[in-house]
Amino acid sequence: MIKLRAVLFDVFGTLVDVHSVAKRADELFPGQGQRLSQLWRDKQLEYTRVRAMAARYVPFTELTEDALMFAAESLKLNLDGAARGLLMHEYTQLAAFGDVVPTLDALQARGVTLGVLSNGDPGLLEDVLHHARIGEYFDLVLSADAVHSYKVSPAVYELGPRSLKHPAGEILFVSSNSWDAAGAAWYGYVSFWVNRNGAPMDRLGVKVASGASLADAVAYYNRKSN
Ligand code: LAC
Repeated sequence: MIKLRAVLFDVFGTLVDVHSVAKRADELFPGQGQRLSQLWRDKQLEYTRVRAMAARYVPFTELTEDALMFAAESLKLNLDGAARGLLMHEYTQLAAFGDVVPTLDALQARGVTLGVLSNGDPGLLEDVLHHARIGEYFDLVLSADAVHSYKVSPAVYELGPRSLKHPAGEILFVSSNSWDAAGAAWYGYVSFWVNRNGAPMDRLGVKVASGASLADAVAYYNRKSN
């Protein structure tokens, strides 16, 4: 039986819904909100990987704005400064998924040390967690900005054990991004993938535990630590 010492959560897509920007995007560009939101997210993740590989770091907020501009341009949408500002503001106000607060309540009631480990820069994380009213739950907020790289660089995952002073094998990492759950498992965490949409697991040669909701992650935590 492993003694789990803490739970670290991914933020974007796991605690807050990155596609909650689609509604505002659709008001600005009728009929195009979903596509813009999807392309924006895909480009954002692509830029994190390109920049991490080349050691050309810029903060996540800047990279996210670059991805937005690219996505709009490729869909031939006229994204003026005001629309860009609105959508970037929307990114600081992403909606928390419905299972987040009950999950954090359940873990907090057990006295579990809770944190986030995210690509987001500290300013963005503060805004997002504050707006979603979940900032108070976390004992630590770890940002990839501390090492000027992005997931799935081992240096980013290393922030967990380094800050918690426990080996990764005693920390549960929870993400809705399967490549992120895989990255954490590669690093050595006990990793759990929240597969909200019944997607196939990324084929990266790694098997992680999974379930359909954050409640399943709590059940997994309880099984592992009882
Ligand atoms: C994060 C991205 C991967 O929060 O969703 O790190």
